[in-house]
This record gives sequence, structure tokens and C-alpha cells, in this order.
Amino acid sequence: MDPNRLKGKNILITGAAQGMGATNAEHFAEQGANVCLGDLDADTAQSVADRINERGNGKAIAVRMDVSKRADNAAAVAATVDAFGSINVGLFNAGLNKPKFFMDIDEDNWDLIMNVNTKGMWLGMQEVARQMIKQGPQEHVYKLINVGSVASRKPLYDVTVYCTSKYGCLALTHCGAVTLAEHNITVNGYAPGVVKTPLWEQLDKDLVEIGFKEKEGQAFDDIAEMLALKKVSYPDDVKGTAAFLVSHDSDYMTGQMIHIDGGWVIQ
Ligand SMILES: NC(=O)c1ccc[n+]([C@@H]2O[C@H](COP(=O)([O-])OP(=O)(O)OC[C@H]3O[C@@H](n4cnc5c(N)ncnc54)[C@H](O)[C@@H]3O)[C@@H](O)[C@H]2O)c1
Repeated sequence: MDPNRLKGKNILITGAAQGMGATNAEHFAEQGANVCLGDLDADTAQSVADRINERGNGKAIAVRMDVSKRADNAAAVAATVDAFGSINVGLFNAGLNKPKFFMDIDEDNWDLIMNVNTKGMWLGMQEVARQMIKQGPQEHVYKLINVGSVASRKPLYDVTVYCTSKYGCLALTHCGAVTLAEHNITVNGYAPGVVKTPLWEQLDKDLVEIGFKEKEGQAFDDIAEMLALKKVSYPDDVKGTAAFLVSHDSDYMTGQMIHIDGGWVIQ
């Protein structure tokens, strides 16, 4: 691994206390990036930041933020700029899921998921882009990176609101790309399938609770069987694509959502 590949990248990562966000933060810092870890769970995000700083290449800070609040997004951007001098990448990763069958969806379920996954992404993109525009032209393009899902392109009927929220992430990627290009900002994303993280472990329990699966672990096995690669994934399977999108190697790409789903979306 080239320890200087991401030198000069100052990145705000939302939802970085655990799961894919934390793995990506560590992976980027190992390649020289400075990372601001934004999360509702500030203590755990701080422990990830401490680990990164102890290892010593890219630097890390942690901030408490609720991505669904505009002021928190603005404060996280300001903290990134205070710590590192500028921001040139935003990775909008914070997300959650709470499965319900279509006719059982209520306003609370809708608001919970849409407020974090879609509204939170929109607010983050806007606040980070505002700062990038203020900073003005730099040598390389600025980058906004959105975390979608196989559910950005595939209807999954036990998680309708999650699908709606993640189709929204795809729309934000497309609309952001065409709108922000004039400011030298690209917008891309990646779309995992099933990744063994705390989010998935909770989802696995919830799927039993709503009666979609009989026992915990069954969803994991059933989905693996459906995938072209016949196996589910771990955060380490996603971090290489995320780093590619942060790196200069992807500078000419915009408006793309790359699937890292073991061949689920094509089934
Ligand atoms: N795990 C999967 O199978 C899977 C598959 C496809 C897409 N995704 C997406 O990948 C992203 C990361 O998922 P993960 O599995 O690593 O999840 P995770 O639950 O392990 O981590 C998500 C983090 O987001 C934080 N968070 C939640 N709400 C927040 C809010 N309002 N403000 C700030 N932070 C908040 C949580 O505290 C947590 O640290 C999510 O957008 C998710 O939808 C996950």
C-alpha cells in the first residue's frame, strides 16, 4: 500500500464510528488522508480517531453530529477545516434501516429512515459543497461520495422505505453531478449489497421480528445463495472501491454509482 496515495485529502466521513465508515476512515488515513469522523456516537468515533492518530500517517478528529440537522453538518465541515485547513472530500455514509412490509409502513418509520439516509445526505452534500465553492479552484477536482445500496436500484419488498431512501441517494448522485460540475466538484457513489456490520446484525434481528425470516442468520445465508459470487461481504471488501473514489484515479468520473454487491443487482 502506498502511504502517500491519499496525501492532501481532507475528508469528512459521516457515520464513521463503526462499520464501513470506520474501516474506510482507517484505510484512508493509512494512505495519508486526514479524516474527520462525524457520528451520533462521538465517544466511539473518538476511539477510532485515537487509533488512527496512534498509528500515525493521516490525522483524525471526531465530532458528534446528527446528519439530519443542517447545523450539525455545517459544524462538522467547520471542524474539518479548522483541523486540516480545508476540505476536499465528503463521504456521506451515515445510514440506518428498519424493515417493514409495505402496508405496515407508518410515518415514524418513513421519517426515521428518510431523515438520515436521504435528507442527511442532501444536507451534507450541500454544506460540504458550499465550503468547496468558497475555497475556490484547486489542482484536483473536489469529491462528494454517496453511499447507496443494492436497494438504490432493486426493489426489496421487506425494506420499502430503505429502498426509497437509497433510490434517493442515486438521484442525489446524478443531480449533484450535473449541477456541481461547474464548481469542479464530482459526485459519485458506491452501492454495497450485504455487509456484515452492526447495521446488518440489527437488520437480521428485525427481519425475524417482522416475520420475514424464521431465525437469525437465515437472511444472511439466503441472500448469499442468491448472489453470483455466493458469499456476503465485510467492510474490507468495500474499502478499496471507496479509496479509489477518494483518489486522483477517479478524477474524470462523475455521476456514477459503483455496485460492490457480489453480483446481486444483476440477478
Ligand atoms: N451493512 C450493509 O449490509 C449495507 C448494505 C448496503 C448499504 N449499506 C449502507 O452503508 C452505510 C454504512 O452502513 P454500515 O453497515 O457500516 O452501518 P453501521 O450501523 O455499522 O454504521 C452506521 C453509523 O452511522 C451512524 N449514524 C446513524 N444515524 C446517524 C445520524 N443521524 N447522524 C450521524 N451518524 C449516524 C451510526 O451511529 C453508526 O456509527 C449506510 O449508509 C448503509 O445504509 C449498508
